[in-house]
Amino acid sequence: MRLIIRQDYDEVSTYVGKSNYVKERISQFAPTPDRPFVLGLPTGSSPVATYQKLIALYREGQVSFENVVTFNMDEYVGLPRDHPESYHSFMWNNLFSHINIKPEGVNILDGNAPDLDEECKRFEAKIALVGGIELFLSGIGPDGHIAFNEPGSSLTSRTRVKTLAYETIIANTRFFDGDVAKVPKLALTVGVATIMDAREVMVIITGAHKAIALGKCIEEGVSHMWTVSAIQLHPKGMIVCDEDATLELHVKTVKYFKSIEHVHHALIGSENISLQGNIFSKRKHEQ
Ligand code: GLP
Repeated sequence: MRLIIRQDYDEVSTYVGKSNYVKERISQFAPTPDRPFVLGLPTGSSPVATYQKLIALYREGQVSFENVVTFNMDEYVGLPRDHPESYHSFMWNNLFSHINIKPEGVNILDGNAPDLDEECKRFEAKIALVGGIELFLSGIGPDGHIAFNEPGSSLTSRTRVKTLAYETIIANTRFFDGDVAKVPKLALTVGVATIMDAREVMVIITGAHKAIALGKCIEEGVSHMWTVSAIQLHPKGMIVCDEDATLELHVKTVKYFKSIEHVHHALIGSENISLQGNIFSKRKHEQ
């Protein structure tokens, strides 16, 4: 697993959205209508600036989403699709309305489906139909949840209906006029295994309030109580965090991961960004 540490939220977003990662992965993949790039996406405040940077790149003509197919991680149950706080609204307002993605390429769970279990099965089947997810982007909750896989969720879970943890409900009151009663208590969410099946997983973790979760994820074992820790078992997992999120890490852990990135840049070159196992070309002096 790689841990990329940047100064602050803006630099994290630049790493993920602008200076390269998502854009480069799409460009390298060279998607076509028959072979689309399949991207898993989160909501929340963590990816907002990343989305803004991707929109800017699209406007500059540096990336196209024409042959990109997306799957969102989760959606509230029972909230009208057009409610301003539905994840459907969030995604269209923050990303999809501003890029050239085809509406039929967008997949968001329907939290108002008549049969929610069927809806979850349909979603998993659709992911399989397009050949699986190439890159899953994610954020985490302060309790280490990934998507809505709250503490105690099975690490082999698939898309399903979940009851939200009280801590998550409280955290989400900020979007519902501070009123707990207005926050949906159920959600549809991809499972931990659905995310870990993606060929690459990239998690954005910023802010001191997520420092304990990052510490659990990086320095302790895989645990269903910190579901993001499942990333330790992924062959191509990457966490991009800011300095604030590293507050609970040992100094030597931070230095270790920074030195790995330094060596990577010095020896192999930042142009080889798919460095999690794939080296495209070596620098001339290395050949
Ligand atoms: C919700 C979402 C998660 C997201 C989390 C963190 O719980 N279901 O997918 O990672 O919020 O949100 P934020 O990025 O706003 O901290």
